[in-house]
Amino acid sequence: MHTTQQLSQGLFWVGGNDRRIALFENMFPLSNGVSYNSYLLADERIAVLDTVDSSILRTFLENIDAARNGRPVDYLVIHHMEPDHCAGIVELSRRFPHITLVGNAKTFQFIRQFYPGIELPTLLEVKDGDTLSLGRRTLTFITAPMVHWPEVMFSYEESEGILFSADAFGSFGALSGNLFADQVDFDEVYLNEARRYYSNIVGKYGQQVRLALEKVKDKEVSLLCPLHGPVWRKDIGRFIDLYKTWSAYEPEQNGVLLAYGSMYGNTEKAAEIVAARLSDRGITGLRMYDVSKTHVSYLIADIFRFSHLVFAAPTYNNGLYPAMEMLFHDMAALHVQNRKVALIGNGSWAPASAKVMEERLSAMRDMTLIASPVVLKSSVNDEAQKALLALADQIADSLLK
Ligand code: FEO
Repeated sequence: MHTTQQLSQGLFWVGGNDRRIALFENMFPLSNGVSYNSYLLADERIAVLDTVDSSILRTFLENIDAARNGRPVDYLVIHHMEPDHCAGIVELSRRFPHITLVGNAKTFQFIRQFYPGIELPTLLEVKDGDTLSLGRRTLTFITAPMVHWPEVMFSYEESEGILFSADAFGSFGALSGNLFADQVDFDEVYLNEARRYYSNIVGKYGQQVRLALEKVKDKEVSLLCPLHGPVWRKDIGRFIDLYKTWSAYEPEQNGVLLAYGSMYGNTEKAAEIVAARLSDRGITGLRMYDVSKTHVSYLIADIFRFSHLVFAAPTYNNGLYPAMEMLFHDMAALHVQNRKVALIGNGSWAPASAKVMEERLSAMRDMTLIASPVVLKSSVNDEAQKALLALADQIADSLLK
């Protein structure tokens, strides 16, 4: 039995969904699973474009059998060698001994690293701009190094304008049976998860994403086929524009994220005072998170989204509260930059958290402090309350100007 769906003439989705998975890369929480997309292009010769994760290998093989209609698979194009797309390489090579694996030099290096000792079928090594004719259709390969691994490449089918984009333009979240983004309420179902996927998985490599976008900017794309999440056939430009914003580290919208760590509620109170004043000043859409409760990947996604960031944290072991330290570590690793920031520290005898956060920010690019940090001594007293309200006013002024 199969779940194959036809996307256009000769093009089939042969991927699958894993809703049982709890953590992507054993790190990122998934509330609604993830899809592993694979495509089969049937022409005079048949090409499969990427395989899937081991969790859905059986579904994938059944889907391939349904789509190939008794014909052998001639080519397996490997756009990306991360294991969530590679569980079928060995099995397809075993089932179709005359198959040709298509990749670049790094692809084949990684195959040998991940599957040491396997006997590989025929290999076709391609470079940027090389083409592969399947008959009526021709694939052109476009290398996209470090989006987000070094071997990554896209392929483009010109007659219909199909871009197979590897992990780029992917999203967390299983598919519901509706494969196309325009068949669902994308903003409600997938947008937050697409942003979380981009910012956490690919976010570090904004420069490389911009280079890849530059390479495809003159190509007419009517079908955008990523390795995770919905396929795009309408409003593709809107999603590409979001990628331009995210990869340039530009805020997607004016707004405030407040992230606090708090052991006994005193630092939390300070964040709440700032948020209430911001609301009084007419700032809407505020997002507040407890860094000990919310997985850091959700915080990173909103940090990519909003223009203004407020961090509040206590001192711990003469340094920064560990959950906040983790957030700052990820912000630096993912090259977060170009944001307006306000800081609130707390400490009972040797407050250090605000200073540490300031140091961490100074190592990032274009992170502008809106005002001097407010430093509490244990709890919010009258003087601290005034300082927090003044800080909130400066944040509001910065937003409203
Ligand atoms: Fe979906 Fe980078 O693997």
